[in-house]
Amino acid sequence: MSTTATKKSPNTILVGGKQRYYEPAPQGIDLESFRKVVTSRRSVRKFTATPVPRAVVDDCLDMAMLAPCSSGLQPWEFYVVRSAGKKAALVKACMSQSAAKTASELIVCVARTDRVDEFSRQMLREWPMPDVPPLVKRYYQLIPYHYTPGPLDSIAMLKKAAFSVGGLFTPIPRGPHTHAEIRLWAAKSAALACENLVLAFRAHGFDTCMMEGFDDLRVRKLLKLADGAFPIMVVAAGERADDGVFWPQVRFDRKLFVHEV
Ligand SMILES: Cc1cc2nc3c(=O)[nH]c(=O)nc-3n(C[C@H](O)[C@H](O)[C@H](O)COP(=O)(O)O)c2cc1C
Repeated sequence: MSTTATKKSPNTILVGGKQRYYEPAPQGIDLESFRKVVTSRRSVRKFTATPVPRAVVDDCLDMAMLAPCSSGLQPWEFYVVRSAGKKAALVKACMSQSAAKTASELIVCVARTDRVDEFSRQMLREWPMPDVPPLVKRYYQLIPYHYTPGPLDSIAMLKKAAFSVGGLFTPIPRGPHTHAEIRLWAAKSAALACENLVLAFRAHGFDTCMMEGFDDLRVRKLLKLADGAFPIMVVAAGERADDGVFWPQVRFDRKLFVHEV
């Protein structure tokens, strides 16, 4: 194993005579602290006037962007709305919900469907190993074609038909092909980043409320979002007020949700 790992020469280990990347799983993580973060996260709808330090917000955003993401393509963006005028407009666009009105930070999470091509090329340029494996290279060269729905989903429909025929004989990916499927594709990864974000705030002692109750059109205009970018959530963050959680958490019987098959 090499001891002086760098981006272009990471730690490696020999497995079955082949040199493989080596990243051991850290042990000794405090499970109870993790559990406390997860179980104490609540949707907080009333915050105090205490500001969240900028370094905390930045750290939480950094942790958000470590969320898993489809094909590593990071189809998310975060707009930390700081200007007083824009913040007031965003509160209004969030229908003046209490969480938005009292939050010291409002962060709009945007899912992007229009950077697949650019980020696929960037991935190949910034590949973290000395050589890009041929399969990986092929994958990122093909992805942009895979995620091209065409006008009115025309190309998507052709691909769906072709893939369905192939699917009679072997398992195949059945999407994302259409505009709607590609939006869902981006929203999935962006939502995972939002979950990281709110857990990170909780770990820092602050609280959040995820909100999808906002006027999409107004938020799009406020942030001047292009067609391939759509806001999926506004995350309100701040210090929990004593009466900031409105009622105890409700979760139904796990039998309704967990199935062993
Ligand atoms: C995608 C999503 C959208 C949400 N939108 C809103 C919202 O617009 N306003 C609000 O007060 N809470 C909103 N919530 C918070 C939920 O109401 C809350 O998570 C749920 O009632 C469970 O409560 P808990 O978060 O305290 O466990 C949203 C949560 C999610 C995940």
